[in-house]
Amino acid sequence: MLDVNFSPFPVLSTPRLQLRQFTYDDARDLLKLRSNADIMQYIARPLAKNINDAIELITVIQDLLSSNNGITWCITLRGSNQFIGSIGFWRIEKENYRAEIGYLLNPARQGAGLMQEALQTVINYGFNVMKLHSIQANVNPHNAASIKLLKKNEFIQEGYFRENHFYNEAFADTVIYTLLTKN
Ligand SMILES: CC(C)(COP(=O)(O)OP(=O)(O)OC[C@H]1O[C@@H](n2cnc3c(N)ncnc32)[C@H](O)[C@@H]1OP(=O)(O)O)[C@@H](O)C(=O)NCCC(=O)NCCS
Repeated sequence: MLDVNFSPFPVLSTPRLQLRQFTYDDARDLLKLRSNADIMQYIARPLAKNINDAIELITVIQDLLSSNNGITWCITLRGSNQFIGSIGFWRIEKENYRAEIGYLLNPARQGAGLMQEALQTVINYGFNVMKLHSIQANVNPHNAASIKLLKKNEFIQEGYFRENHFYNEAFADTVIYTLLTKN
């Protein structure tokens, strides 16, 4: 069984980014993204409506972290503490050494290769520090940016579920992409 320990919190760095722990001070910036229907169009989660919803999301993140059942990093630009996005393993199947990854970036920062930097670093942490065997991503097939990012990082399409979830008053498909460790 996989044994992970996220204490002390593993702050990660990339050439342009620092990935740190969330705090409740990030709630306002998190709300801006999680309440935006365009940004959330492919993330099948209820839109955040107010600051309490964002605070609740951060509480879920902190609870998963303190129980070592999930880890989400707050993405900031180096030299700034401000939240610009998030990335993390929000579901870990310890018995299978497997985790599901999710990520989100402020549109003003998209298209500059920043999530590529964050993803590479988090994959490296997942395989080399957490000792995962596989990383899974569940993606809407219309989410071109996310699929490009996953393929660029050698994730392979393994499954396609037709109309398996109901979101925004419609049934949507899910593609499963997976990356296996090379270790
Ligand atoms: C998916 C997401 C995180 C990508 O972040 P990003 O920082 O813009 O990605 P990058 O700049 O690192 O780009 C990675 C690759 O995807 C490509 N890409 C980025 N946006 C794209 C788009 N809208 N359409 C097609 N390709 C796109 C880039 O060109 C790059 O490929 P390249 O290096 O070969 O040119 C961002 O679009 C996002 O936050 N989307 C909303 C939330 C979301 O859908 N999350 C994923 C849920 S599964």
